[in-house]
Amino acid sequence: MAHAQVGIRPADGLPLPWEAARLRRQRDRLLKEVRDRYKMIGSSEPMQQVYDQIDKAARATSTVLITGESGTGKEMVARAIHLNSSRAGEAFVTVNCAAIPPDLIESELFGHEEGAFTGARKRKKGLLEVADEGTAFLDEIGEMPLKMQAKMLRVLETQKLRRVGGTRDVEIDVRFMAASNRDLKRAIDEGLFREDLYYRLSVMPIHLPPLRERMEDLELFVAAFLDEFNQAMGRSVGRVNPETYRVMRQYDWPGNIRELRNVIERAMLLCEGDEIQPAHLPAELGGADLSYAAAETPGPEEELPSDGLDLKGVVTELERHYIEKAMERTSGNQTEAAKLLSISRDQLRYRLEKYDLD
Ligand SMILES: Nc1ncnc2c1ncn2[C@@H]1O[C@H](COP(=O)(O)OP(=O)(O)OP(=O)(O)O)[C@@H](O)[C@H]1O
Ligand SMILES: [Mg+2]
Repeated sequence: MAHAQVGIRPADGLPLPWEAARLRRQRDRLLKEVRDRYKMIGSSEPMQQVYDQIDKAARATSTVLITGESGTGKEMVARAIHLNSSRAGEAFVTVNCAAIPPDLIESELFGHEEGAFTGARKRKKGLLEVADEGTAFLDEIGEMPLKMQAKMLRVLETQKLRRVGGTRDVEIDVRFMAASNRDLKRAIDEGLFREDLYYRLSVMPIHLPPLRERMEDLELFVAAFLDEFNQAMGRSVGRVNPETYRVMRQYDWPGNIRELRNVIERAMLLCEGDEIQPAHLPAELGGADLSYAAAETPGPEEELPSDGLDLKGVVTELERHYIEKAMERTSGNQTEAAKLLSISRDQLRYRLEKYDLD
């Protein structure tokens, strides 16, 4: 059919055959870029197993339940599965069940008809309809209200949903994945999670081990994050002191890979040379953060002077000093300076004005 019309734009606005091929090539290239970007780091035994599971899940259509502590890469795994599946060119829709107020979650997921409730002026598609033909990732599923869990179970079983205020079912074609950093088995015992939904979701369970159980990947992660931030900051920090590694290995990383990434970013901001040293690590890692002490500071007197002191004045002076230093070190980049000082950008701006440092 399309060939009979070569040279004439099809009435329905479809691209011409050669344009379609170009679009396809473009899309394939984009997909490859995204695929490369989401390639996960890690070659440890536990990660090899995770890659195997990603491959299997990408070939299947069953529901995947991804568990693991905060920051272990659950969302990355979900995206990796989607991008390697036959749905790669379609939508990947994340629903953070913990972030949606309980009374809105049904209309967010299922959509609503015109006039379904006060404020529902127009019909609106829900996130699951947006994910049609693609993948829906139900993040923090453990936080979903029980009533909604029952409705979700029906959607998983029938691929049909009913918009809020609707009278008929809408058919969808969605691949579901879910994640939780909460122990769902315990939530079941506590009556907070439906057992039938749990079994329905966990057809293909994938567990991400905490970073402390795959420390053989530590150096890979550090190298990759150094690369990433070197590029982003136009720096060339290339070395990590062996003592720095020792401190990092002893730490238990409750925030896992996300925490490690933040620690490296911060260390690079603190580090003036090309080597990350223990002093560039946050104090909670055990390698005392001495970098500021090294810069001449108006360091507080150890003893309270016999005639007392002006506490507010001393604190103000310290605050002003460190803000000035942080702005110097980051060449006036407020976002980075605020990070260095563990305050928000607004808090930094307020102080810059207060101290007339702008
Ligand atoms: N294997 C990995 N390779 C590279 N980066 C990773 C890896 N695992 C996690 N990360 C990084 O760590 C951060 C957290 O990852 P992600 O958001 O996938 O974790 P999560 O398990 O969903 O966390 P949460 O439970 O807090 O939602 C992201 O910045 C991600 O890029
Ligand atoms: Mg997540």
